Amino acid sequence: MLVAGNWKMNLDLAAARQLTAGIVSTVGKPKNTHIAICPPFVDLDATYSILHGSGIKLGAQNMYHLDSGAYTGEVSAPMLRAVGCHYVILGHSERRELFGETNQSVSQKAIQAKTHKLVPIVCVGESLAQRDAGVHEGVVEEQVRQSLESLHVGESSELVVAYEPVWAIGTGRTASPEQVTQMHTHIRSILVELFGQKIGTGIDILYGGSVKPNNALELFSQPNVDGGLIGGASLNADDFASIVASADKAATIRF
Ligand code: 13P
Repeated sequence: MLVAGNWKMNLDLAAARQLTAGIVSTVGKPKNTHIAICPPFVDLDATYSILHGSGIKLGAQNMYHLDSGAYTGEVSAPMLRAVGCHYVILGHSERRELFGETNQSVSQKAIQAKTHKLVPIVCVGESLAQRDAGVHEGVVEEQVRQSLESLHVGESSELVVAYEPVWAIGTGRTASPEQVTQMHTHIRSILVELFGQKIGTGIDILYGGSVKPNNALELFSQPNVDGGLIGGASLNADDFASIVASADKAATIRF
């Protein structure tokens, strides 16, 4: 299991330090669950100093697909590695919708992340219109294939996929356990096809979209759900710790 907090564009340096310290002191040491936090770029260095030694991993929310150069405003994989990042979120729906991210750019970035030994958390998910039109499985399948098919994955721990239905993000409306199971099982079959049985079955598939302390256990108990990518609730140490505890409980029940 993996629980990752996506802080999005929230928290300045002082607030990031405070929340990180709060998370370190509340999450404890779950047996079967890895934990990550993904603060804004400017908070990464400071949060890493606080996380260091806690077992909690650091992630970024985006990066560019080249090492360095005249790309004003961008941040590279080597830079993220240098401040202690283990993960990088790629292709979040907010980046796809608001900043023109495509499956092709996500693919380039995922290859670059892996080259620099960052673990990409590749996000996929359909819009409400796509779900209502009944094309959600096809949309997500295309996102998974086009974002990942050029990737060389030697171990299942080198890649994470996050299913985040756009209509569930920040809305308080989660996908139902049946909807989550159906999509995660579909994603699993594509991963097995792309990367083989051993690696494809081992890749963590996270669910994201209004995961809260009161629904996390049910969501994480579904087949092929290997944890969560948490937005709003990751900005509160107690809520985040409770979600981590639910993941660990689900892991204990499952294995
Ligand atoms: P919320 O948990 O706020 O719905 O956000 C989910 C998300 O987008 C995580 O990446």
